[in-house]
Amino acid sequence: MHDFLTRLPKIELHLHIEGSLQPEMMFALAERNGIELPYSDVDEVRRAYDFQDLQSFLNLYYQGMNVLRTADDFFDLAWAYFQRSHADNVRHSEFFFDPQAHLARGVSLDVQFEGLNRARQRAETELGITSAIILSFLRDQSEESAIETLEAALPFREHFIGVGLDSAERGNPPSKFERVFARAGELGLHRVAHAGEEGPAAYIKEALDLLHAERIDHGVRCLEDESVVAELAKKRIPLTVCPLSNVYLKVVERMEDHPLPKLIEAGLCVTLHSDDPAYFGGYMGANFTAVQNAFNWPNETWIQLTRNAIEASFISDERRKALLAELDEVAQDAV
Ligand code: HPA
Ligand code: ZN
Repeated sequence: MHDFLTRLPKIELHLHIEGSLQPEMMFALAERNGIELPYSDVDEVRRAYDFQDLQSFLNLYYQGMNVLRTADDFFDLAWAYFQRSHADNVRHSEFFFDPQAHLARGVSLDVQFEGLNRARQRAETELGITSAIILSFLRDQSEESAIETLEAALPFREHFIGVGLDSAERGNPPSKFERVFARAGELGLHRVAHAGEEGPAAYIKEALDLLHAERIDHGVRCLEDESVVAELAKKRIPLTVCPLSNVYLKVVERMEDHPLPKLIEAGLCVTLHSDDPAYFGGYMGANFTAVQNAFNWPNETWIQLTRNAIEASFISDERRKALLAELDEVAQDAV
């Protein structure tokens, strides 16, 4: 990676922790838990990562996370993610997890939070990475299931800062989750939603108007409706864009075709993230490099995108100030 890009303090705001499960760990946890995998080795797993669309990825993603059973499994997963992200100079991470997928396998919320929190604490003490958890609802399941999950998570309220909406987008509009997002709002939780990845710009509009989403995850298809772009710009709603994910899931054909330059020119608060780094060719650093290889932006653009991510994060004023100071230090040397 370009030295300047390496040094930039990075803020991860769109990361599914289950999507950081590397094939090597998939095998190690399968063995530890006595689970049979439908692959003979890690190379076969990697060869299967040839996605046609979001659903073909989700099929492997849900199958892969099947190896997560104990608090130690969740710890190992998240700790590996933090160590790897430390190498890319990630300084803060607000990551998603999919509790419904684990509850369906009989893994309790207690186990899920215990493992994730242990890794978060260690990441803060040993790596200086701060983090927060966003509980994400599976949009291809019912709203009743999402409501049940939120109520079941209330004993763990102090361990998560917000709710999100992920999984198969087409045919599962934000409007389906209006009540559970209203409930999350009453509980003082932050609200974000995946919208406009494979779904239309109208889903972004719904996420804003009906779910009161504070950030839109992906959102790249907003460009298909000028009025949606105007609303996103006016309200300064961040779009957490995941460039390598968009290429791997064929939202765009090649990185050179990515609408990032158009989103930035439209004055939107764009931020860059890694989504499911084990499945989509890399972590934050790999995303930055792939984008820079395609667009060759000046340093100022990268500084602005980093500033956007610091602005878009759900952190304390004190932490925000500290991250801005880290950015200023790198910026002063570079411009
Ligand atoms: N989109 C929707 N749902 C997801 C994704 C994604 O990229 N990754 C994990 N769940
Ligand atoms: Zn995502």
